[in-house]
Amino acid sequence: MSESEPQQPGETPARSAPIATPTPPAGAAPTTAAERVPRTGESPAPAADATDGATADPAPADPAPAPAAHSAPLVAGEGVRSASALPREAMEIAAGYAFGGPALDLGALLWDGACLADAQVRIPLPMLNRHGLVAGATGTGKTKTLQLIAEQLAAQGVPVFLADVKGDLSGLAAPGEANDQVRQRSGEVGQDWAGKGFPCEFYALGGLGEGIPVRATVTSFGPVLLSKVLQLNQTQEQSLGLIFHYADQKGLELHDLKDLRAVVAFLTSDEGKPELKNIGGLSTVTAGVILRALTAFEAQGMAPFFGNPEFDVSEFLRTAADGRGQVSVLELPAVQDKPQLFSTFLMWMLADLFNNLPEVGDVEKPKLVFFFDEAHLLFNGASKAFLESITQTVRLIRSKGVGVFFVTQTPKDVPGDVLAQLGNRVQHALRAFTPDDQKALRATVKTFPHSAYDLEETLTSLGTGEAVVTVLSEKGAPTPVAATRLRAPESRMGPVDAAELDRAVKASTLYARYAEAVDPESAYEVLTARETERDAQKRAEAEAAEAEKGDRKGAGRSGQDASMVDQVMGSGIFKSLARSLGTQIGREISRSVFGTRRRR
Ligand SMILES: Nc1ncnc2c1ncn2[C@@H]1O[C@H](COP(=O)(O)OP(=O)(O)OP(=O)(O)O)[C@@H](O)[C@H]1O
Ligand SMILES: [Mg+2]
Repeated sequence: MSESEPQQPGETPARSAPIATPTPPAGAAPTTAAERVPRTGESPAPAADATDGATADPAPADPAPAPAAHSAPLVAGEGVRSASALPREAMEIAAGYAFGGPALDLGALLWDGACLADAQVRIPLPMLNRHGLVAGATGTGKTKTLQLIAEQLAAQGVPVFLADVKGDLSGLAAPGEANDQVRQRSGEVGQDWAGKGFPCEFYALGGLGEGIPVRATVTSFGPVLLSKVLQLNQTQEQSLGLIFHYADQKGLELHDLKDLRAVVAFLTSDEGKPELKNIGGLSTVTAGVILRALTAFEAQGMAPFFGNPEFDVSEFLRTAADGRGQVSVLELPAVQDKPQLFSTFLMWMLADLFNNLPEVGDVEKPKLVFFFDEAHLLFNGASKAFLESITQTVRLIRSKGVGVFFVTQTPKDVPGDVLAQLGNRVQHALRAFTPDDQKALRATVKTFPHSAYDLEETLTSLGTGEAVVTVLSEKGAPTPVAATRLRAPESRMGPVDAAELDRAVKASTLYARYAEAVDPESAYEVLTARETERDAQKRAEAEAAEAEKGDRKGAGRSGQDASMVDQVMGSGIFKSLARSLGTQIGREISRSVFGTRRRR
């Protein structure tokens, strides 16, 4: 077993509380659902099943009833208790969170209807690269949890990336305002609350919406991710892979969508057909389907997201001048209607980080923590290759110092192979209205270690901004499951105003670098130029043939005739294309996970 086993009663259950024990407002009627959290710890279950580092071990949901009763049951609504007054089970849980090193403070333990400020629930900073899941029904506090974690990471010098799907995270840049709710919550959880803003950089995909434009080149995006956004089937996905391989080999650079379209159009044209044959395994019909899919995709307004200057994701790894981690916020409200696009783009960023970061092993603190909001979109309709790539990326990126947190409604949204790698869990309330809900609830409960709570009941009775938590201890073992009232974010809950956001974007040193799209010569330009040249050549040849008509019949072929024959054979254009692209050919493109390009 591990250090997550309960400590001896009498040992300090938590680190010395950093905050003065607050007194809840006198007579304030408790408004949160703490009181509804039932005391169901009828079992002295071991705090956590710590046989391995994963939390995905299904745990029996109904341990045998145990004789032990609560040693010192609290009266519901009694509020904050001092450490010595903690009931035994609460003390055991709290002991599982008494880490010595730097940690993030999530909130205070809820036990038996009370919020225990002396029992702090925390995540050790070095365990943030062991990934996590923030889940819960809509409106239960997932985004605020994300904000809270992001703030503390930034404060401890760790850069953070987060996707702001609903536009309610830009407030991270501005100090929060103290109000009664914040005062009450911070009092209850023992938080020394002070409004503060954090160093933020705002980004926008393709420059749509407010933010520094983020674009990816098609070649960097790669065939697997592109197939996901084009919604291609497996055969088509493989065919697209062949097309990329062909373009890579021929030095046809795929910067934007029209480059790729030009290559596919060429391969399906009379001139390109022999090339297509040579590729092998790529049918004209499938190439035609891909071409139509690309055309439709461009018609949906997807062109601005692909091209130059390509965004360098290492921008996300910066710290601010004052040593705090930079918070990179990708503003997504303007592309909310393109969920396939933005979720796949997030995956591209992660894959690009993975491709280009060095191995660092286990680190004292992560290089970056990446929050993947609306994660279900990523997994919906994903191909086998795609899912394998996600699993691989998540598994391997940890040793590059990057932590990934998925944010979604239920753990069921995340495939088991990925879920098993998410060491830190913050599960907000779940609904149990329908049979499907109930099934999802039971499945969720099974993903938690043994617990002193009746999780089915606890999970359906948690209030807003409360969650069931289990994380990895400093030794990498799951901590005891802890119902937790979360701290209040110290930055603004909600967006900053548009003018403020605009000022921040324009003031960024990155803005000038990425603001304007550029269109350097690439496959489209090359192929178009060749086509123009070929047309001109054909015309000239037709004229020459016309002039020669009648005389010199049967004479030897001219050089021009020979090239015409080549062209009829379909290979002429590519011979000359190969010549004109001599410098680019052979510049190997090394592709990695998802077929995304590795930068050199
Ligand atoms: N930790 C917290 N501190 C203070 N208030 C909170 C906290 N968590 C949630 N709240 C309150 O609950 C509201 C809803 O929370 P939040 O927006 O985080 O929910 P959500 O789960 O992200 O919802 P959705 O699924 O709709 O995005 C917040 O606007 C805030 O008022
Ligand atoms: Mg939200």
